[in-house]
Amino acid sequence: MDLRLQIENLQAQITSDIATLDSSERIEEFRLRHLVKKGTLQSLVEQLRLVPKEQKPAVGKLLNELRSLAQGAFDSATERHTPKHVVSSIDVTLPGRNSYVGSIHPITQTVDRLISIFTSMRFEVAEGPDVEDDAHNFERLNFDADHPARDMQDTFFVEHTDRSNILLRTHTSSVQVRVMESMQPPIRCIMPGRVYRNEAVSARSLAEFHQIEGLYIDKGVSMADLKGTIMEFARRFYDEDAEFRFRTSFFPFTEPSCEIDMSCFLCKGDGCRICKNSGWLEICGAGIVHPNVLRASGIDPEVYSGFAFGFGVERVVLMLTGIDDIRHLYDNDFRALSQFPAQ
Ligand code: DAH
Repeated sequence: MDLRLQIENLQAQITSDIATLDSSERIEEFRLRHLVKKGTLQSLVEQLRLVPKEQKPAVGKLLNELRSLAQGAFDSATERHTPKHVVSSIDVTLPGRNSYVGSIHPITQTVDRLISIFTSMRFEVAEGPDVEDDAHNFERLNFDADHPARDMQDTFFVEHTDRSNILLRTHTSSVQVRVMESMQPPIRCIMPGRVYRNEAVSARSLAEFHQIEGLYIDKGVSMADLKGTIMEFARRFYDEDAEFRFRTSFFPFTEPSCEIDMSCFLCKGDGCRICKNSGWLEICGAGIVHPNVLRASGIDPEVYSGFAFGFGVERVVLMLTGIDDIRHLYDNDFRALSQFPAQ
């Protein structure tokens, strides 16, 4: 048969085979049939040498076109039917990664709770400077000139020849003085803040910690108001069934002075680790504001009286959480801090 005719027949054959290339098996059959060495195309190529010389280029061209057609169809069908390996670094079966959003530090959380109880009892929040002078930290609070708290042992004084009376406040009681200087009674304030003492850092004490001070000044304020306020606060903050104990104490700025204990909210007085087996927890120091303190800040003690109280925030956090080393609160260890999600 004429080679041209054979080419035409093969072309018809290939064209109809191309239409069936819809699976990898068919594609492979197509390859074995037409494209391998012993395939249809090659057998026609071999016959090319029998074609008269002058016709060779034209017939060769036809064969080449037919091979391109078959090869092209094979390549694109193979491409279509090769499974795409999606290489991905994401293993969707792994548990998701947590994103850490941070949380409010347990000290801040505690201060916020304390503030919200006192503000609901109509106390306002007041603040004063951390860097104070001797007058606000000691003198106007009725500290004697030779009071041991003025000693370098306890107080960080600023090293400056002209400013030897400048110090880091040792208690938030200094803010009482500032409040009394700037406000007229009735005064009902709480004063949270950072305080500083020249103490060795240990499981129980830090050189920098927090206090909250309370001050209430009006006509006719008595010890009964102090008792009522502290008991109401402690019942709301710690334990609504709490019992109280008022022990006499001494602070230069209050007279009489006391320390207030509450029955342990955990063991209810039986004795446990939190209350060190005493059954009692100390809540705060307090007292009736000394007349000298009122007078030093321009308030007439013949007309007004008041009570004050103060306590350390870190101690409160330790009591509530049972943490036995105050330094854990300042290590900034995420494992510790993340145990106190904001409530
Ligand atoms: N300032 C005292 C201290 O740092 C605490 C304190 C005690 C404050 C009695 C008071 C108070 O206002 O009345 O230890």
